[in-house]
Amino acid sequence: MHKPPSIAFAKLSAAPKKGTAVILLGEEASPAASVSLLDPSGTIARAAAAAKFKGGFGATLDVWAPDATELDRFALLGAGKPDKRDESGWMRLGGSAWPLVRKAETAAVVLELADGEPDEVAAAAFALGLLLRSYSFDKYKSKKDVKGKAREDEDGKPKLSKLTIHCADPSAAKKAFADAEAVMGGVFLARDLVNEPANALGPVEFADKAKELEELGVTVEVLAEKEMKKLGMGALLGVAQGSPRGARLVVMQWNGAKGKDKPIAFVGKGVTFDTGGNSMKPASGMEDMKGDMGGAAAVTGLMHALASRKAKANVVGIIGLVENAVDGNAQRPGDIVTSMSGQTIEVLNTDAEGRLVLADALWYCNDRFEPAFMVNLATLTGAIMVALGQHHAGLFSNDDDLAGKLAQAGMVTGEKLWRMPLGPEYDKLIESKNADMKNIGGRYGGAIIAAQFLQRFVKETPWAHLDIAGTAMGSPASDTNTSWGSGFGVRLLDRLVRDHYEA
Ligand code: BES
Ligand code: MN
Ligand code: ZN
Repeated sequence: MHKPPSIAFAKLSAAPKKGTAVILLGEEASPAASVSLLDPSGTIARAAAAAKFKGGFGATLDVWAPDATELDRFALLGAGKPDKRDESGWMRLGGSAWPLVRKAETAAVVLELADGEPDEVAAAAFALGLLLRSYSFDKYKSKKDVKGKAREDEDGKPKLSKLTIHCADPSAAKKAFADAEAVMGGVFLARDLVNEPANALGPVEFADKAKELEELGVTVEVLAEKEMKKLGMGALLGVAQGSPRGARLVVMQWNGAKGKDKPIAFVGKGVTFDTGGNSMKPASGMEDMKGDMGGAAAVTGLMHALASRKAKANVVGIIGLVENAVDGNAQRPGDIVTSMSGQTIEVLNTDAEGRLVLADALWYCNDRFEPAFMVNLATLTGAIMVALGQHHAGLFSNDDDLAGKLAQAGMVTGEKLWRMPLGPEYDKLIESKNADMKNIGGRYGGAIIAAQFLQRFVKETPWAHLDIAGTAMGSPASDTNTSWGSGFGVRLLDRLVRDHYEA
């Protein structure tokens, strides 16, 4: 896993006189007090004026070796207008600070603004944003070239090992940051899992990774084909049958609540590679299907985060792990499978496989745990990207209260959701002549049809489906992520749990 710099918090009055320092400047103010404190000669203030630096949100101004101070680098970071500085705003500001400090071995940031000092929540969010931005996935890049010399791009790598954040209440910030750090670990794990190529990470290897959560106190069970067959999971196993790599269902449990509260449950699609099967995908872009386990990665990352911060909630995480491959034994279009629920499914397109995996995973989850609610995450359809682009995940739900809480958590964390419809008109589209349902509908509304299919496996339990095909991977770089795998869903669901389900 990526090793981020360590973070320390210190008093404002201990602001550094040497090295690299970043100072905030809000759009509403003339240069903050801290600037004049560290800049008695007014050099920085002059530089800001000359560069017409107005403190716009995320804007930066870099001054190297300014006269009259001993600092090597004195950077200004625009903090925008006050209304932008909510928690996700502070995270984004932290992310924007990363390029300013990454090359120094140690650096400092002074969190002070003319209109008041940011509180500990802001300080922790700032730190989290910076650390999330620092993530990179480079384990497969050689450090040396064939001649044994350091590769050129080693030079460009970050050097930062320690960052000190100066703020009003360092001890409160440190406390708030402990939780943020737990969440960071969960996001990094999810990103690692998504970024890992499919030759290295198949269902078995993924299950092994999940098993490691036992070190944090999570109970982890791994079901292999034999047990799934006994349970009647014909839908999930049908997808897996074209791959020699086997299928796994992983059940993770974190019991952090004292009472015997009903658990809440998260279910993830874990297709470790999706060729499409016999309904094969075109070659162009198929490599992206190594990330078709983004839902399972988010659930695993979430369990990691909850256990690391010892969340006071009873939480179940279930992931269905399969490879959708092709060989002589692969499922064919027209095959009819029987799911664990007893409902039969005519598989008209073997590339609509995620819903088949989730059908059994959701049914199993509901049947065994009777959870207070279930939220599933899946890179389920290309259609959700057509509908929403890559800046919102699709939210489908049979429960307005749960949907509202999720949408709210999305606003707060910046992992945004947009609610999509469900309804009997859409459900009709998956009626089949030959079985209880088919796994595809017509040409239109593909993301809704997929959601409708899932709903047939959740009974009356409050449930939400998040279609994260556009947001879990390959989404545009942001202030807090430049890696292909985003870890989308970990922060969102951690927030949902924290705000509503912890005593
Ligand atoms: N894993 C894909 C969806 C996907 C596409 C995720 C692109 C991320 C990026 C899913 O299994 C799939 O193939 N869906 C089909 C469904 C269709 C056959 C009804 C799709 O979206 O084309
Ligand atoms: Mn597919
Ligand atoms: Zn898929």
